[in-house]
Amino acid sequence: MSPIRENISVRPYTPQDRNALRKISYDTSFLEKADDLFDEPEIVADALTLYFTDSEPESCFVAVNDEKVVGYLIGAKNEKEMDKVAWFKIYPRLLWALLVRGLFLKRKTFRFLQGVLVSHFKGEFNAPDFSHEYPAILHINIARDFRGCGVGQKLIQSYCEYLQKNGVAAVRAATMTETAKSFFEKCGFVVLFKTQRSYLRYYFRNDTFVYVLGKKIHTQ
Ligand SMILES: CC(C)(COP(=O)(O)OP(=O)(O)OC[C@H]1O[C@@H](n2cnc3c(N)ncnc32)[C@H](O)[C@@H]1OP(=O)(O)O)[C@@H](O)C(=O)NCCC(=O)NCCS
Repeated sequence: MSPIRENISVRPYTPQDRNALRKISYDTSFLEKADDLFDEPEIVADALTLYFTDSEPESCFVAVNDEKVVGYLIGAKNEKEMDKVAWFKIYPRLLWALLVRGLFLKRKTFRFLQGVLVSHFKGEFNAPDFSHEYPAILHINIARDFRGCGVGQKLIQSYCEYLQKNGVAAVRAATMTETAKSFFEKCGFVVLFKTQRSYLRYYFRNDTFVYVLGKKIHTQ
C-alpha cells in the first residue's frame, strides 16, 4: 500500500469543500482540456457542480488527504427531481451569466456552443430514458496524483451505502473514456448504452464516445 493511500479517507461533503471540489471538477472535465475549450472556469464549474453542492449536498462525498480534498463524488438520488431544479434555477442562472459577461461572443465559448447545437439537432444527445430503472446518478473525479490507489472505489462504496440507506434501487454514471468505463465495471456497473458525438470534433478531430453505465443497489 502506498503512503498516500494510507492517509486518504472518505467523508460526507461540507460547504468548506466547495472551492476545492469545483477546481477538481473543472480540471478533470472534458478529458482535462477545459482550459482549451472554455473562456470562463467559474461558469463551467457551475454547470458541472452547482446543483449537487448547493441543492443536494447530502448526496456528495469527498476524499481527503491530510485535510486536502483530492477527489469527490457528487450525486443525485432522483435525476427527475434534479432536472426540475436545473431547468428552473440552474440553467437560467447560467444563461444569465453567459449573457451579462458577453461570453456568447467569446471565441472558445461560441465554438463549443455551436458544436453542442449542431450535435443536438443531429440527435446525438438522444438516449434511452433510464431514470425509472436507475433513478440516481453520480459524477466522480479524482485529482491526477491520487488516482489508482483505491480512492474512487471508496467513494463509490460510500455513495452506494448511502443510496441503500435511502432505499434507492439503482444508480447511473456516464463517462467519455475507456479507462473510466473499466473503473466503473470493476465497481460493479454494467454498460447500458454507448453513443458517439461530434460536438468536440473541432478540437479533438474525432468524435467522442459516451458510455452510460448502471449498477443495481440491493435494498430490502
Ligand atoms: C476514473 C477514476 C474516477 C477512477 O478512480 P481511481 O481512484 O483512480 O480508481 P481506483 O484506484 O479506486 O480503482 C478501482 C478499480 O478500478 C480499476 N481502475 C481504475 N482506473 C482504471 C483504469 N484507468 N483502467 C482500468 N482499470 C482501472 C483499478 O484497477 C481498481 O481495480 P482493482 O481493485 O481490481 O485494482 C479516476 O481515475 C478519475 O477521476 N479519472 C479522471 C476523470 C474521470 O475519468 N472520471 C470518471 C467519470 S466522468
